[in-house]
Amino acid sequence: MSRQDDLAESPQEETLDPEDWNETRRVSRQVVDDAVAYLRDVRERPVWREMPADVRAAFEEPAPRGPMPLPDVYREVAERVLPYPMGNIHPRFWAWYMGSSNFTGALADFLAAVQGSNLGGGNHAAARLDQQVVAWCKEMIGFPPSASGTLVSGGSMANMIALIVARNVKAGVDVGEHGVAALGAPLRFYGSDQMHNCHRKAMQAIGLGNQSLRRIPSRPDLRIDIEELGAAIARDRADGFRPAGLIANAGTVNTGAIDDLPALADLAAREGLWLHVDGCIGALIAVAPQNAYRVRGLERADSIALDPHKWLHAPFEVGCVLVRDAAAHRASFSMTQEYLEQAPRGLAAAEWLYEYGLQTSRGFRALKVWMALKQHGVEKFGRLIDQNIAQARHLDALIAAEPLLESVAPTTINIVCFRFRLPDLDEAGLKRLNVEIMIRLQEEGVAVVSDTTVHGRHCLRVAINNHRTRRSDLNLLVQEIVRLGRKIAAPG
Ligand SMILES: Cc1ncc(COP(=O)(O)O)c(C=O)c1O
Repeated sequence: MSRQDDLAESPQEETLDPEDWNETRRVSRQVVDDAVAYLRDVRERPVWREMPADVRAAFEEPAPRGPMPLPDVYREVAERVLPYPMGNIHPRFWAWYMGSSNFTGALADFLAAVQGSNLGGGNHAAARLDQQVVAWCKEMIGFPPSASGTLVSGGSMANMIALIVARNVKAGVDVGEHGVAALGAPLRFYGSDQMHNCHRKAMQAIGLGNQSLRRIPSRPDLRIDIEELGAAIARDRADGFRPAGLIANAGTVNTGAIDDLPALADLAAREGLWLHVDGCIGALIAVAPQNAYRVRGLERADSIALDPHKWLHAPFEVGCVLVRDAAAHRASFSMTQEYLEQAPRGLAAAEWLYEYGLQTSRGFRALKVWMALKQHGVEKFGRLIDQNIAQARHLDALIAAEPLLESVAPTTINIVCFRFRLPDLDEAGLKRLNVEIMIRLQEEGVAVVSDTTVHGRHCLRVAINNHRTRRSDLNLLVQEIVRLGRKIAAPG
């Protein structure tokens, strides 16, 4: 082949770009129009519904070898995926703990993908914006600007990043270099028995193991028992362990209980322990005018995990970890390679953001947080948090007024634990009955709630982390639970 041939355009060369941009515009407009209608009408649809057999079967199809026109691909999504969502954007979804998304965030995800930037770092606008969102997170919860932070997939990863830094700082040896085998004494971390299971996962993943995580009993109000905690630390020291860190809950996953953060900060300071706050549920209460006092003390932490895909309602996924000691944070993950050196000017003339976490390539998840905060302002998110907490109080009042329902745990913030009760049913019978109520609520598409067990008592759990919920939705929930409970329990 001559050099001339080499330089000529080859008809065989391909691209993923559309052949017909006008057609692309037409399909895109259709997608956006449908998406707006989808969200506008969400209340009219069931919260959840079972997929029919043909839809399930479609997900067994092998990988397509050849092309399909984009309108047909979209039709498949419109027919098989969009009608069968998890349901968390619906006003009557209150299961587990998740946000209810927002349209601006969805537009942001689209734009982020169109721009396509990799947030591993670099000198470009997306990377600056990512750092601005981290700075806004610090500002919202009262953490110093000198702290570091990074956006990650969610709370589990945010907690794990923090625990890696805590382990490295408190290990007394260079764990990064020599591994946990070099630890002189086994490390111990402490949290209440209400901790989220991501902490166990993290302990296992970072080589310390589940046993290194001490579960301290919670009191009847589901907050950590600080006397028991102090005693456990003393016992461990006497037994040759190395107490390393406290994991405080700013909103437990079961009931939303908030540990006594100032007391834990005092204890951590006295004992020389790292204080990590799992604020995935509650850290952002710091921006809610009526309830911010509940998380006071948060700002004294060494590290905090928070979750913009919960109370900022960013579309999944986005979590955030903040670390007071930026140098310690960077030291845990920084390992510059010859192929990723910083340059004095140009695209590589910026700190690499991948040096604050486990990922190298990172998505532009910051944009969905940034755009929604710009559009609505922090104050509105604060009011929405207050609104959800007030709605939980409303639900509490409905439960108190209904003899067939009983509260199972105190409501601190937006999580309400209660059950349908009948005097002649034992615990096992009550659990069977309440699980059946929960499933029928889902199957009838009325509402989605989840269940849990608090201090040995099974209950329904309503986590109102939803900017679409109205009090009338909660009125309907109570009415339906009572109707279903009576119907299921009726003889025959
Ligand atoms: C208290 C708490 N911590 C951590 C997590 C894990 O967060 P994610 O699901 O974003 O990984 C959750 C999730 O609900 C949580 O409630």
